[in-house]
This record gives sequence, C-alpha cells and structure tokens, in this order.
Amino acid sequence: MNAKVIRQKFLQFFEEKGHKIVPSAPIVVQNDPTLMFTNAGMNQFKDFFLGNREASVKRAVDTQKCLRVSGKHNDLEEVGFDTYHHTMFEMLGNWSFGDYFKQEAIDWAWELLTDVYDLPKDRLYATVFEGDKSEELELDAEAKDIWAKHLPADRILLGNKKDNFWEMGDVGPCGPCSEIHIDLRPQSEIEKVSGALLVNQDHPQVVEVWNLVFMEFTRLANGSLQNLPQKHVDTGMGFERLAMAIQSKQSNYDTDVFSSVIEYVAKKAGISYGDDNKNDIAVRVIADHIRAISFTIADGQLPSNAKAGYVIRRILRRAVRYGYTFLGFREPFLYELVPLVAQQFEDVFPELPQQKDFVSKVVKEEENAFLRTLENGLKKLEVISSSGKKEIAGAEAFELYDTYGFPLDLTMLIAKENGLKVDESGFEVEMAQQKNRSKSAAQQDAGDWVRVNDLSKDSVFVGYDALEAECQIVKYRSVKAKSKEVFHLVLNTTPFYAESGGQVGDKGVLVQGEKKINIYDTKKENDLVVHFSDKLPEDLSGFFDAKVNPQRRRLTQNNHTSTHLLQSALRSVLGDHVQQRGSLVNESVLRFDFSHFSKLTDEEISTVEKMVNEKIRENISLNEKRNIPVATAKEMGATALFGEKYGDFVRVITFDPSYSVELCGGTHVQATGQIGLFKIASESSVAAGVRRIEAITAETAESFLLGRDKLLTEIEELLKRPKDTIKTIEALVDEKGKLQKQLESLHLQQSRNLKEDLIATAEKTGDISLIFYQGLFPDANVIKQLVFELKNEMENVAVFIAAEIDGKPNLTVIFSDQIVKEKSLDAGAIVRTMAKEIQGGGGGQPFFATAGGKDIKGLEAALSIGRQYMKDQLQ
Ligand code: SER
Repeated sequence: MNAKVIRQKFLQFFEEKGHKIVPSAPIVVQNDPTLMFTNAGMNQFKDFFLGNREASVKRAVDTQKCLRVSGKHNDLEEVGFDTYHHTMFEMLGNWSFGDYFKQEAIDWAWELLTDVYDLPKDRLYATVFEGDKSEELELDAEAKDIWAKHLPADRILLGNKKDNFWEMGDVGPCGPCSEIHIDLRPQSEIEKVSGALLVNQDHPQVVEVWNLVFMEFTRLANGSLQNLPQKHVDTGMGFERLAMAIQSKQSNYDTDVFSSVIEYVAKKAGISYGDDNKNDIAVRVIADHIRAISFTIADGQLPSNAKAGYVIRRILRRAVRYGYTFLGFREPFLYELVPLVAQQFEDVFPELPQQKDFVSKVVKEEENAFLRTLENGLKKLEVISSSGKKEIAGAEAFELYDTYGFPLDLTMLIAKENGLKVDESGFEVEMAQQKNRSKSAAQQDAGDWVRVNDLSKDSVFVGYDALEAECQIVKYRSVKAKSKEVFHLVLNTTPFYAESGGQVGDKGVLVQGEKKINIYDTKKENDLVVHFSDKLPEDLSGFFDAKVNPQRRRLTQNNHTSTHLLQSALRSVLGDHVQQRGSLVNESVLRFDFSHFSKLTDEEISTVEKMVNEKIRENISLNEKRNIPVATAKEMGATALFGEKYGDFVRVITFDPSYSVELCGGTHVQATGQIGLFKIASESSVAAGVRRIEAITAETAESFLLGRDKLLTEIEELLKRPKDTIKTIEALVDEKGKLQKQLESLHLQQSRNLKEDLIATAEKTGDISLIFYQGLFPDANVIKQLVFELKNEMENVAVFIAAEIDGKPNLTVIFSDQIVKEKSLDAGAIVRTMAKEIQGGGGGQPFFATAGGKDIKGLEAALSIGRQYMKDQLQ
C-alpha cells in the first residue's frame, strides 16, 4: 500500500463506522494563548472535550498536520538523528465526543491494524495506564480487560504517567491512554530479545504507532485534575510510522512519504543516501524540515524574529546549516524541494500545491539571507573551538544569535559536534537583558476560570446587529500582568467583537446601575470571547448592560470594509496572484499585506486608490450571509484565506457580487458610502514577495488631505499665488543653488581681500605683528580658515578677531607658536576673559582659542582687552 492508500483506508474505515471526515486544522494556531502550533489532532476539538462547546457530530475522523517543536511536545532534537521522529507529521485520528469510549476505541483499532492493514498480530503490543498514587488515579483495568480479548497477557504492558497519561499541555484536557507499539525487527533478533523489553525504550524498530486517549479530566492551572462533564476518545496515529510498518521499512524516511525528496537531495549533493551516517542525518533533517517550513508558510506564518515566525526561521536555518556543513550546499537549495513536497500532498492538503511558488520564493529569500551570515558565524565558532576552550560563553552564544542569526539550538548542535558545551544560562541572561532593553510584552500569568453563574451558554455574539446587550458574567479569571492584576470576563451574550481576522477587539463598558466597568480589549480564546478589564464588578451575579464604544467601532468598520474593497482593487490592477498575507484593521488605520513581487508604481497606487473611491461613491450596500454552507460560499466565488480555520458554515460578506465577495467574520459598514474617502498612506515591503499597504479612511483621510491642502495654500501664499506653483518652486530651488555657489566664491574672494588688508595693516611691536579686527563674517569656519592662513603666512603674529555672525558675537585668537613660548601667551585664558564682555564663554589651546556669547555690544570692549593683554605681555 502506498501512502495515499494508507491514508484513504483510515478515513474510509472510520467513515463506515459512522464518523464524519473533517479537514485538518491549520498548523499555525490562532486564538489559543496556550499553543503556538497544532501539536496534536485533538487541539481543534479542545472545546468539545472541555464542554465549552457542543460538537455538531458525535464521531469524527481526520488527518491532522501537526508540528512538535515547542512547548510540552518538542521532538526537534531527535529529528534526523533517529528515523521515526519528525517536526511536522500527520496524525490520523478518530474521535468520539461524549459517544463511544474504551471498548469501541480499542476494538476498532485492533480491527483496522490487523484486518485492513494486515499487520502481523504477533508483532503488536498494547500499553495500559498503571495508575498514579500522587494523582489518586487507579490502574486502567477496563482497557486492560478489553485488550485481553485481542492480545496475550505478556503483550499487554503497564505504563506510568509519563507514557500512559496524555496531556495536551500544562493545562487542558487529559486522560489515561493506551498505546499500540509494533516490533519491526527481524525474527532472529526477536528470538534473542523479546519486544516487550524494548517498548518505550527508544528502539528505532520497536515504535509506538497509535495512541488511544480516553479523555476524562482537565488539568487546571493550580495543577489539580478535574473531571470533564463527559468522556471522550482522542486517538492519534503517526501516519509516517504506520507507513513504515505497513511497507515493512526500517525507517520512516524509507517510505514513499519521503523518498522523492531524499532522492533529490542526495543526487544534488552527489552522495548516495545510506552510505554515510553523518550525511544521512543531514539528508533526513532536510527532508523533515522542508515539510514543516512549507506547511507553516502555506498556513500564513512567515519566518520572522518573534514567536511562531521565529520557530520557523530556526527550523529553516537548522536545515540550511546541515546542508552547508555536511552536503556542501553553498547556495539556496531548500526552496527547490517545495514543489516535491507539494506534490506529495496534492490530494489531501491542497493549500500547499496552490501556493508552492509563493512558498518557494519566501524560502529562497530566507536561505539567501542566512547563507550570507552563516559562513562568518561558522568561522567565529571555529575560532572559539580551536582556542582550546571547553565552553562557549553565554555572551558568545548570544553574539552568534544576535549578530549572525544563529538560533541557540543551532549553536548547541554545532558545539556538540565539536565536543563543546554552551553556557546556556549565560545566554539566557544576555537574552533577558536584551529583552529588558526592548521592553518585551508583559509576562502573563493566568489563574483558573471561576464560574459565577450557571448559564447554559456563553459568548453568544450579538455584535453584528447590536452595540449594546443585556448580559451576565459566566466566569472570570484573574491574570497577573507584570505589576498589576487584570481580569478576564466571559459573558453569556456579548456585543463585543473579539480580535480576529485582523480586526481589533472592541472597547467599551459594562454598566450596572451607577457602576461602570471599563473593558479595554476583547480577545478570542478558541470560541470563548474574553473581555479584559482592570476591575472585577462587585456584584458578579447580576445583570449588566454591555456597551461597545460606538465611535471606535464605526471607524474600525470603515477600515475593515475598505480592506475588502482594496483587496479586490489590487487583484484587478495587479492580477489574481494577489493573496492576503495578513491584515490589521483598527480605528485609525488599515494595513494589508499581500503577495506581489515588485514595488507598486505611483500609477498603480493611484489607480487602486481611484477604484476604491469609486466603489465608495457607488454606495454599495452590504450583503451579509451568515451560516451558509462552505460549498455555497465557494460557488459564490468567495475569497478565502489560507491558514484560516473555517467551519462547515461560514459567513460571507459581499459588496457587489461582481466586485468583492469574501469569507469574513468581521464587522462592516451598511453601505460603502459611509466610508467617505480612502487614501493610501504608504506602500512597502514586508518580506520576500509580500508587500504592505497602509491606508486611511473617512475623517482620518479627510483631515490628512485637508492638512495637505492647507499646506499647499500656505505655500502658494508665500510664493504670491504663482500660475504654476511647481515651476515656481523648481525655479527657486535652482536659483538658490546658483546663488549659493556665487556666495561661496564671493566669500572666498572677500576673505582673501581681508587677509591681504590685515597683513598690510598689521601693527608692529618689535618683530611681532599684531592684528585686531572687528567685522561681519558668514560663519565661524571662514574665520578659522582666515586666522590659520595668517598664522601660516606671517611670522610672530598675534591675531584677535571680534566677529558678528548672524547677529551673534564671536571671538577668535591665534598666536604663532614661537611667541606663545617666548612671551608666555595663552589664547585660551585671554579668550575666556574677553568673553565676559560678550556674556559668553569659550576656550581652547595656548595658541588658538574661540568663544561665543550673547551680547554683540561687548565686541569692542572685548577687543580692547585683547589689546591691553598684548601690551602687558610684550612689555
Ligand atoms: N492526543 C494524543 C496524542 O497526540 C492522541 O491523539 O498522542
């Protein structure tokens, strides 16, 4: 069976058993603060398990794109070194939401593996939870008994909490689990060592293929377990491992899931896979990582310097470094693999094939950027390791991170290869210091939800139709943000829009009689609408009027609808390749990121602006369809977003069916005329192949344009209302340039004349020449140049200049070196005394000093002091 057939049979088997086939959720998680990436099939069903939402079906089956590179489940370090861990993998799962439990889950798993996939029964093992005293949990005798129908007692093994109690993260749904392992070793080895001894011992041929989790509890933030309202089944089978078992291979990488990429990489490197362990690791790392990179980018996450984006960047850099060091790749190569990966998933995850050009482009750009610094970073590491040190200091690791773009895990990996350690805590200290410097986001520490009213529903959103609603608080929790405590409130009914789809969350108030609670933000947590406030209402059980700030919402809506109008305009002006890559919509601005490969010309920008404003003037009415089947929306030609999780029923926002039809959950204007005006404020690049437009609308656009208009009027007034303002300004600029040049040469000439005059009229005392001069100068440089020339051209000279520059007094004194010594002169000292007369100060060296001041009237007196000084000194 090839991979496609294996996947298909899984879905079909459970479909026949009454399960609905559902799509994979995006790999990048939105609206869940506890999770960055989907790390298990059950993530998208978390709310069903917790009882926050009722599932629309009782049984479901799917294949889920998962990524285990951060948080509780992190396999990154194993990847490549072994043959059965991955960053991105597919998890096949069947689900019961409060329906069947252990019996069916185990029986069907057995039937599928042994009947449908025909895996040898005598090679299979099951593990069962042995219980845990500290958690007061008993042995899972029920699961053990069910397995006893299928397996002899010596192939049913007990496992501890670590292996047989599955938890999604630090908090959330969990329960005992039963794993199925398979022994793929040759018979001769099995005869020597029983597989039972190798289960869960990290043996590459005795591996877990399937985990059946019996969800019964939820782990609270305080560490305790709470019973769930209903019991559920969550199973997860590693697709790539299953393929290895069914195809009788030694490694996941030997299956047809990976073979095309592996062949390509090996051929490009001029090696043959399987010949050399180090090279093989590098090939596996690349074959694995390119899948993680491709899918996350396809699901809308671009590599960046923060959070999920940085995880992708780390994975990509890890792959590039392996290629560089072990396979000799000096040029970008990963991007060439994207089409091969895309082809693998044609029939199951079309989002990748559909965007393969874009993904390739982003990957190539990232590779290029990293390759530029990689070499220098590697050299730096080489210097450290050849210096005989045993450890890379925290500061060095940080420099590699900060300057050369080496993620810490990459530095550690290279260090390990060279027998070096890395001072991780030193690195963390440096990192923390930098974070402090850049004032990172407040650390949040959320407590458990406290239920205050037993209401059957929560978070019913009425904000499409109303900005006010009567509501009650369902639950709240306290959150410690850096230095203060804030509160999260969940209401039964709410008009507050929770931040999503780029649109900011509403602000507003909860009113109860005379009392008001300020809501400063609204965000989603899965399907919960969470209201943020600084205060907790005194009366938690009563009724409130929830009121959205209407002005802010109205302005935000203007910007959201404009974003739709903009997207269609961009498509019609630039082409259909324009895809949304991110957006931000708030009350003051709209930001739209989209795929396009070159800078927009001024003409393109103004054509787009014109088109949007035309649509505004057409005053097109909003056509909103809520809860229509996805298929119908597609027939309407609705634009969907990659990486967005859509249910079976969607909301479609149309402004003229022939112009803008989008799947969208945001709030919009009733008719486009309300927007009034649209103006693009900037166009720039965000990443390879991604452009960004920022635009303003309504009052903001109006005051922007009125401001420009006023400016222009003022300019025209200044220019005395010329016929052609531009030409007049051009002429002025031109003239100014010419005048400047003339002025400079005049100054030069003047200065030369002055110098000659001064030399000719110098007073003589013995063989010493004295020059005292008071006059106007254009700037201090001219004076400096003048006095230095006098000093160079004359012997034994003392020069005192009292100057007026732009209405300000300035003093300069210079002496020949010879007389400084002979007559004990000090220009610095005398200039300071003189400066008092001009209410200023200054100083310098014995031979040259200057001073500035405030009182121009004192220049003459200052010069007299200089005169007197010379008299005294020369006597
Ligand atoms: N949630 C379990 C796992 O991820 C089974 O799907 O292993």
